Amino acid sequence: MVKKVEVKNLTKIYGKRGPRVKELIEQGKSKAEILEETGATVGVNQANFEVNEGEIFVIMGLSGSGKSTLIRMINRLIEPTRGTILIDNQDLMGLDKKGLREVRRQKMSMIFQNFALFPNRTILENTAYGLEIKGITKAVREQKAHEALELVGLHGYDDQFPSQLSGGMQQRVGLARGLANDAEILLMDEAFSALDPLNRKDMQDELLDLQAKMHKTIIFISHDLNEALRIGDRIMIMKDGVVVQTGTPEDILTHPADDYVKRFIEDVDRTRVLTVANVMIRPNTVNIDKDGPRLALRRMQENEISSVYVVDSERKFVGFADAKDVIKLIQQGSRDLKSVVQTDVPITHPDVAVNDLMDQLSSTPIPFAVLDDERQLVGIIVRGAVLGAIAGNEVTQ
Ligand SMILES: Nc1ncnc2c1ncn2[C@@H]1O[C@H](COP(=O)(O)OP(=O)(O)O)[C@@H](O)[C@H]1O
Ligand SMILES: [Mg+2]
Repeated sequence: MVKKVEVKNLTKIYGKRGPRVKELIEQGKSKAEILEETGATVGVNQANFEVNEGEIFVIMGLSGSGKSTLIRMINRLIEPTRGTILIDNQDLMGLDKKGLREVRRQKMSMIFQNFALFPNRTILENTAYGLEIKGITKAVREQKAHEALELVGLHGYDDQFPSQLSGGMQQRVGLARGLANDAEILLMDEAFSALDPLNRKDMQDELLDLQAKMHKTIIFISHDLNEALRIGDRIMIMKDGVVVQTGTPEDILTHPADDYVKRFIEDVDRTRVLTVANVMIRPNTVNIDKDGPRLALRRMQENEISSVYVVDSERKFVGFADAKDVIKLIQQGSRDLKSVVQTDVPITHPDVAVNDLMDQLSSTPIPFAVLDDERQLVGIIVRGAVLGAIAGNEVTQ
């Protein structure tokens, strides 16, 4: 994994600082204690984390926990009191104004919750705004803005005005504006928090679709664990300026670091009641007794998947076949699908509690095969669907 962003001991003190505050921070005193003794507000207290290239990293915490301060320090929109920020191994703190502007321009784009659209400008001009202030020529910026609008599903709206768009669509313009400048890192501060639940879910899906195509590095702030579970590859939880836990959604759900994290997951803690049957999805299968490699390949192509599950005429589980192997078989002129079936697949039962699968789920790249008492393949378990179900989505079959 390539480290894209690395943050070490990043600290922000608002108000009076002085050596005493520094001392108290080093002694590990809390935000409340430091405020009490010195009158200074700790925004962020010695945060340490890394964000990998292509990852969606969610920062979560209650209001006032330091999320906005932290994300704004990553591009030095807020000047850190102490600490190190490395972007692609380059130390941001060591840069002068010009160098900083250059890194921001090339690498980072910030998307806010309450961004303003200019009412008298078209959607295209609004989208191109960030490029305009960077001095990009009109033709280029309009081309890029147009492409970004297409990406977020606003085809045909270039020449409309903000008042002609719904709230959800306006938020898409904000996303398009953030995407238009091709930044490698997107910093999103509660970008979807103002949206109603349906629009919000749409935007989360949109972001995941975009991410599948664009592989950005995304730091996404949310105060909502459901949102974090849906979109985060990893989640970092903050309290009173301090990082309390960083981990995969499964880590957070199954091993909450303390009571604060536990309280977050109480609302979504359906893992204890959810069973495999609740979260499994329907697998694409071929019948080893009558289907050959060509049908297996067609099934994969039709469903845009790279492997297919193999059962026998009684639907009893046999294994799975990989597209690469099936293609090779076809090229060799062989019809013997059996010869490429892989049987080393993790297996579970519909009645098993999802909680008991969690640890293995995040470490197993292949979906679990769900077999009933007769060893018939009744479903498969994919990670995204499980996290979606925990976050309260309907599991679509
Ligand atoms: N400009 C500022 N001046 C003084 N204190 C601030 C300022 N901005 C934020 N804070 C304080 O820093 C802490 C963290 O705030 P913030 O980063 O906005 O948290 P969050 O985004 O998690 O709600 C809070 O106690 C807040 O009151
Ligand atoms: Mg905030």
